[in-house]
Amino acid sequence: MTEKILVLGCSGQVGNELVRFICPEDFIIIGLSHADADITKKNDISNIIKNSGCSLVINAAAFTEVDIAEKKRNLAYKINEKGTYNVGEACRNAGIPLIHISTDYVFDGNKKTGFIEDDLVNPLGAYGASKNAGEFALREVLKEHIILRTSWVYSSTGKNFVKTILRLGNEREEISVVDDQYGCPTSAHEIAQVIIEMACQIIFNGKKDKWGTYHYCGDTKMTWYGFACEIFNVVSKLNGCSVPKIIPITTNQYPTAARRPQNSVLNCLRINQVYRIQQKPFIFNLSQVLKELITIDAPEKR
Ligand SMILES: NC(=O)c1ccc[n+]([C@@H]2O[C@H](COP(=O)([O-])OP(=O)(O)OC[C@H]3O[C@@H](n4cnc5c(N)ncnc54)[C@H](OP(=O)(O)O)[C@@H]3O)[C@@H](O)[C@H]2O)c1
Repeated sequence: MTEKILVLGCSGQVGNELVRFICPEDFIIIGLSHADADITKKNDISNIIKNSGCSLVINAAAFTEVDIAEKKRNLAYKINEKGTYNVGEACRNAGIPLIHISTDYVFDGNKKTGFIEDDLVNPLGAYGASKNAGEFALREVLKEHIILRTSWVYSSTGKNFVKTILRLGNEREEISVVDDQYGCPTSAHEIAQVIIEMACQIIFNGKKDKWGTYHYCGDTKMTWYGFACEIFNVVSKLNGCSVPKIIPITTNQYPTAARRPQNSVLNCLRINQVYRIQQKPFIFNLSQVLKELITIDAPEKR
């Protein structure tokens, strides 16, 4: 029998990778964008999920603008807390499990080592707080859920650090990048791989009692400065482009509306122990995304 998986927020970085994922034969992935299914519209979401005929829902829909959330706090909560609750409630009523994505920004960064799932949350900004509220709402409403926290997401589509730094590299000879915030860059494609692997195990392999919160991120810890250096190293090897001068700066030298955790490294031991999922190699995933971006850019340069 073919199992259907429904993806909400399918035009975002992770949603897009989920819908273009080459699935095992016995899976079909159906993607709905913001325009197709607004998670803040409780009745619509309830009807969509009830009538979907799917075996599992993935919620990749979210308000993700970290700095804008400081000014649009209500909107961030409407989508990330109430919207998540609506999806959870609709899944509960339809008897369907949910994989929901959350963030490293639920933590305050005041830990020397990687955060584990049970560490105390203490978000520094409105985005992290709204995502944290969404996690709590989901735990209240639906037992059959996975909350997958991830970090520093990038892909060849959407807005992300990789695309921004490449654009700046084209425009400037020098770029200043923050060198005192640590995290693990994670490609949207590897998150999609991990989610599909978890979905397969839930649907086919009897992992039905392994609900709860899990961490997954790329396997290499670095600062944003380190990430920028890696991006230009790989790009210059791929297409021989010149590399701008990258200058390390402190968080204080780059003020932003929202405070960010100084350490948002996630410890990924639990997902390995329960689902046998291992962190994937950073350089491989970064190279894949950069190759895609170079291919996308190529026709414009001719
Ligand atoms: N980006 C990161 O660095 C990062 C880091 C850690 C965790 N995460 C988490 O990972 C998940 C996926 O992130 P992402 O980077 O793929 O985000 P993204 O690219 O911003 O995509 C989010 C998607 O959600 C849609 N959306 C917004 N409001 C909606 C609503 N009311 N109903 C339905 N869809 C709505 C957006 O559509 P429109 O654009 O049309 O509004 C967009 O397609 C999120 O839960 C995020 O919190 C992200």
